[in-house]
Amino acid sequence: MPAVVQHMAALVDGIDVASGGELRVALDTPMNPLHISFAGPGKSDTDLSCAIAAGIVLNLESEGETERAVRIGDRLGITPRVNVRVNPDFELKSSGMKMGGGAKPFGIDSEQAPALLREAAALPLQLSGLHIFCGSQSLNGEAIIEAQTRSIELALRLAAEAGFTLAHLNIGGGLGIPYFPGEARLDASAIGANLTVLVKQLHAAHPDARLAIELGRHLVGEAGVYVARVVDRKVSRGQVFLVTDGGMHHHLAASGNLGQVIRKNYPAAVGNRMQGDGSLASAVGPLCTPLDILADRMELGHAQVGDLIVVFQSGAYGPSASPAGFLNHPAALEVLV
Ligand SMILES: Cc1ncc(COP(=O)(O)O)c(C=O)c1O
Repeated sequence: MPAVVQHMAALVDGIDVASGGELRVALDTPMNPLHISFAGPGKSDTDLSCAIAAGIVLNLESEGETERAVRIGDRLGITPRVNVRVNPDFELKSSGMKMGGGAKPFGIDSEQAPALLREAAALPLQLSGLHIFCGSQSLNGEAIIEAQTRSIELALRLAAEAGFTLAHLNIGGGLGIPYFPGEARLDASAIGANLTVLVKQLHAAHPDARLAIELGRHLVGEAGVYVARVVDRKVSRGQVFLVTDGGMHHHLAASGNLGQVIRKNYPAAVGNRMQGDGSLASAVGPLCTPLDILADRMELGHAQVGDLIVVFQSGAYGPSASPAGFLNHPAALEVLV
């Protein structure tokens, strides 16, 4: 959402993007291109050309991508600025989405990294450092501390083995937000205290290294609410359904179809009629699939046609992570207030 990116650009030290489209949004902000990085497997030659021309940092995901970056840099007459993304040999425990450890399409396996780093140092590339991202959406502070500590250890070991100095080290994020009953906000103070120690360790070996963490969802996820209007209210065999003009085509994550194994409800309410009567209803979308659920049997039974169903914790993985084209309903409107 460009308006959010503009707003956040003034508050953060850098932006990591995951597509050519996101890169253009980031380049439209006042952020220094040196502090924009581009991760993600499958960067096209066009993506690589745009990134190299803009002077941002490419997080290289494979040997093939490294070769293409060199070729395109040569054609453009620009030395690409790069980090190597490493797939660590550990994962972020108790995370919603594991992005490292085991066989993964992301980054270069840590066992292969020293050889690639030595190779890259001899190529026309400006190698500035490493990117290690092992998972997302964790509410377990100890697991995050462990993953960050292991990421620093790994980076120090790889840099020593490959004989190069880190100017930049991105150890990913993984800090989650509470979505479901029983989940609590992370206490970031212990994570911060540990990071202070880790920065000292890093600077002892690489005094000029800039340490980055990625806090995408953690920064914006709780700031967003999704609102859909009830267009029909019906009862099927005793169960009340509120059929809304929004659903999984706007908010796939709340429908439970973005990686949930057992569907759980996001927090939701009748936004214009907060005081309920305790009766239950399910809020569904207009798509002809039983997957199109916003709230399954929640205390929304007092909602009437025209009322607003509000889904909280919707500031991340909203419309941009949803199948907007499915059945060609109107797109979600995004507004920064
Ligand atoms: C490289 C990278 N950065 C950031 C993220 C987003 O993390 P979060 O969900 O914590 O915003 C992901 C998600 O998978 C990722 O792969």
